[in-house]
Amino acid sequence: MRILLVGCSGFVGRALVPLLLEGGHQLVLLSRSSTPLASVQSPQLQRLQADPAVAATWQVPAVQEALASSEAVINLAGEPIAEKRWSDAHRQLLSSSRINTTRALVAAMQALPEAQRPKTLISGSAIGYYGTSSSERFREASGAGGDFLAGLCQAWEQEAQTASAFARVVILRIGIVLGPDGGALGKMLPVFRMGFGGPIGNGQQWMSWITRHDLCRLIAEALANPAYQGTYNAVAPAPCSMATFASALGQVLGRPSLLPVPAPILQLLLGDGAKVVLEGQQVLSERLQQQGFVFEDPELSAALARATT
Ligand SMILES: NC(=O)c1ccc[n+]([C@@H]2O[C@H](COP(=O)([O-])OP(=O)(O)OC[C@H]3O[C@@H](n4cnc5c(N)ncnc54)[C@H](OP(=O)(O)O)[C@@H]3O)[C@@H](O)[C@H]2O)c1
Repeated sequence: MRILLVGCSGFVGRALVPLLLEGGHQLVLLSRSSTPLASVQSPQLQRLQADPAVAATWQVPAVQEALASSEAVINLAGEPIAEKRWSDAHRQLLSSSRINTTRALVAAMQALPEAQRPKTLISGSAIGYYGTSSSERFREASGAGGDFLAGLCQAWEQEAQTASAFARVVILRIGIVLGPDGGALGKMLPVFRMGFGGPIGNGQQWMSWITRHDLCRLIAEALANPAYQGTYNAVAPAPCSMATFASALGQVLGRPSLLPVPAPILQLLLGDGAKVVLEGQQVLSERLQQQGFVFEDPELSAALARATT
């Protein structure tokens, strides 16, 4: 398949691109950088530079041509969520980098003659869609939460859903992605390796996770299998508390994990962004179970063993 990728130069894309290349796909990587994923060299990989969040990007002939010759599009673009304090300007960027990018992408797909439109769109979202709760269990049919991230995810998904008028749309509400070189685990690992790790906050908050390995396998499967359609919770079947997660991580690394990270320290660093790790949600991947997706990392300890190496 020829696939156009947006927002795939980051933590997830670093693993996704090699997996898709191994699968024999032809990839066009659209990025704000001139050399995204510079270490990946392949005749099957073409790079295009343009800011995908800016609507004019999609009018550039090389981008239009790449879109028109692609059978599928994968859209994971978005300013990182938990890296900075959420000032008003930063909230705006968190939203626009997802919502405007998706809107401009779908408009560009729609503007093509019908025969040239990519037939499949796989677009990102997050389990933040549901808001946070210590007691509720969220399935795909559950309603959206009422906080900033829930509103952002709703608007982001609505833009992607517009493409369902002419394409197969798969929206992945992604959980906490586990890999050694990024995301929440990437930040926790150095501290745990030094023996200073422990649960963040009160430890009771839910962590609904998926290994990066399984998320990339899921994206590849959703591309190839037309039975995938609509919204899926991209989480492994074993959500756990932060305390359980920290203890399992300590065990996998052979290090103590008893030093809790107090919530105020994180709030001082990240402001509202700390919410992402201090408050969680228990999310079930009901539709993936129905679809018969087989996780290679369904269980926490084995998942952490893979995700820390
Ligand atoms: N990692 C997780 O635990 C997790 C959990 C839930 C949801 N997600 C979502 O899954 C997607 C991929 O996650 P990730 O961890 O791979 O993210 P990431 O490493 O932060 O990369 C996201 C990509 O978005 C693009 N991007 C970053 N800032 C942007 C901006 N201001 N405007 C336009 N594009 C921008 C970048 O592409 P270029 O620099 O190449 O343009 C980058 O490759 C994101 O949308 C994220 O919100 C991730």
